[in-house]
Amino acid sequence: MFSRAVVRSPSANFAEGLTSRRLGAPVYAQALKQHEAYCAALEQSGLELVRLEVDERYPDSTFVEDVAVITARGAILTRPGAPSRTGEVAGVREALAQFYSHLSSIHDPGTIDGGDVCEVGNHFFIGISERTNQTGAQQLAELLASLDYTSSFVDIRAVKGILHLKSGLANLGDDRLVVIEELSNRAEFRGYELIVVSKEEEYAANCVCVNERILVAAGYPELDKRLGELNYQTIALEMTEFQKMDGGLSCLSLRF
Ligand code: GLY
Repeated sequence: MFSRAVVRSPSANFAEGLTSRRLGAPVYAQALKQHEAYCAALEQSGLELVRLEVDERYPDSTFVEDVAVITARGAILTRPGAPSRTGEVAGVREALAQFYSHLSSIHDPGTIDGGDVCEVGNHFFIGISERTNQTGAQQLAELLASLDYTSSFVDIRAVKGILHLKSGLANLGDDRLVVIEELSNRAEFRGYELIVVSKEEEYAANCVCVNERILVAAGYPELDKRLGELNYQTIALEMTEFQKMDGGLSCLSLRF
């Protein structure tokens, strides 16, 4: 169960952030509205919010998840793979220091984006991506091992259309994963029950299990229906403006 989430509203220059999408520029007022609805959904799911100050120096800084990996046994600050984002760590460090007496860190030349890290029980899948390199993944694996967690690597560099591992993978608990088609045959996920998201609904794979509810992107009826059939209670949230900037639901918070 989670009790808190770190969040940061998008800055006025959010549209200057990184993106590989060709969906047009995000509309700032709309992004703010969508972010507030997201925050309300976290609160509705029982979380107390830790709101970081908006930071225009870092237009991607609303995507707080990339900057830390938080586990029940300790927190690790990452070293984001995009140079324009490395400065985001200081603010998140300050916020997490209120809750964790010791914070580990990923060091140069290692890079990790939190979006590449998917916790499944006592195991962590670590995506090797354009943002997370082998050295960073190895450092994280060692830090996780010191907290008594296992981990394994999933190379997603050849998978088209996803920035991070969690762009195509979500953990629903009870050994059940949501995955995009392209990841569904990977040996790494054998032994799990897979809910495979169709190509048309690929963006919806980045859903987030928060206590009793699952936050899902609005506009993806197949996955929503499937989750309903499995008796999950979903909250559908408009994410269009964040999608334009290569962001998903999980990216917008650090939950612990
Ligand atoms: N815009 C999110 C990222 O590229 O890091």
